[in-house]
Amino acid sequence: MAKAKTLYVCGECGASQPKWSGQCPDCGAWNSLSESVAEAAAAGSRRGGWTGQGSAEVVRLDSVRAGDTPRFSSGLSELDRVLGGGLVPGSVVLIGGDPGIGKSTLLLQSQAAVAAERKALYVTGEESAAQVAMRARRLGLDPEMLECLTETSLETVLATAAANRPGFMVIDSIQTLWSESLQSAPGAVAQVRECASRLVQYAKRTGCTVVLVGHVTKEGALAGPRVLEHMVDGVLYFESDSGSRFRLIRSVKNRFGAANELGVFAMTDGGLKAVSNPSAIFLSTDEAPAAGSCVLVTREGTRPMLVEVQALVAPSSLSQPRRIAVGVDPGRLAMLLAVMNRHCGIQVNDQDVFVNVTGGIRVSETASDLAVALAIQSSLREVPLPRHLAAFGEVGLAGELRPVYNGEERLREAAGQGFTTALVPHANVKGVKARLTIRGCRRLSDALDAAREVDS
Ligand code: TYD
Ligand code: MG
Repeated sequence: MAKAKTLYVCGECGASQPKWSGQCPDCGAWNSLSESVAEAAAAGSRRGGWTGQGSAEVVRLDSVRAGDTPRFSSGLSELDRVLGGGLVPGSVVLIGGDPGIGKSTLLLQSQAAVAAERKALYVTGEESAAQVAMRARRLGLDPEMLECLTETSLETVLATAAANRPGFMVIDSIQTLWSESLQSAPGAVAQVRECASRLVQYAKRTGCTVVLVGHVTKEGALAGPRVLEHMVDGVLYFESDSGSRFRLIRSVKNRFGAANELGVFAMTDGGLKAVSNPSAIFLSTDEAPAAGSCVLVTREGTRPMLVEVQALVAPSSLSQPRRIAVGVDPGRLAMLLAVMNRHCGIQVNDQDVFVNVTGGIRVSETASDLAVALAIQSSLREVPLPRHLAAFGEVGLAGELRPVYNGEERLREAAGQGFTTALVPHANVKGVKARLTIRGCRRLSDALDAAREVDS
């Protein structure tokens, strides 16, 4: 095959150079040139311009029939949820995650389920066919259903796919693929970008659903500094608390559904199992409630979920006591401590404060404020909060409790999980029907007092 012409494009200014150099001759940025394929300047591409020759048809959107996107199941309920209801034919999804987290396991399980209905191909550049077969056996999957190709050349993969016509193809991983049209090594930004864009074209043309596995680099971005995210239809990240057997899969981009949706799996001897009721597992099963712990009703994507927020307040020997937040924003913790000091008379200037959300969950919404404050007060007083108490609410700088969205849904989830009392912002109470006692408070100080009353 003839080598395509290569160019070196500056990542800063976009200028292209025929040769690589350490500094971009146009903008002066250092180390910003990367190899890419020159677009073929086809003779026919210079179209008539103002003469209107070679123009294309413009459509009015009311004439477009936008039916429901057809989807098919990935075979795993939690993966379907994160994808917005299943896989879309012709779409490309990128799954990123640390090594060993279970990407290959997840996709092999999904492949076996999908293969029952449509032709599926598992392309691996990382493992041998024997290793994949061994894993399939360990997972108890039917090897007859699994078709595997061990290959790293993009051209061979595309030719094999063209001959086999799969409806679902897994590429494990995009960093091991390389295209003959580029000289750089597999895994280089230019290679990753070129391979992904050719696979996207292939998916759009044939209607095959392609899932790309991407490794996360040291900096935490998918290799080829997030170059793929804008090319593909969906980006999922696989994450886990170190040592925990639970795996969280989160969508950060989804052209066919809600982003920020969360799916929960447990890694077992028999592979990944979907956890359909995550609230139950993220709450401690410990019978006696402990001081410094508060149950928060948070929302991940479109689903309310109960998680446990823990705080530990302990006398510090440091001149500048520690403020450590795991799973919540450290900036918000500092803000909350200042509000508690100024408006509630709770002073922790000489104490270390640690806050942790159990189960490796990261809560990014402001609705966690009230639960964090309650946990801190409980730890400071060394008195546990009453069992069956759940809380949510945002705290403002003036010490007020601000409402959060989807309050009713959160309260129903708490009631459904057996909670009997909820401490929430006053504005979240009106017109809510849920089978538990709801205490609405206007100020953080009222909520902290209310928590003390409930337990006394
Ligand atoms: P793997 O899917 O190979 O991870 P990735 O492709 O993301 O690098 O996951 C391998 C890990 O999962 C490995 O540490 C062993 C564990 N595992 C189980 O606990 N149970 C199983 O059934 C399987 C297949 C793997
Ligand atoms: Mg793997």
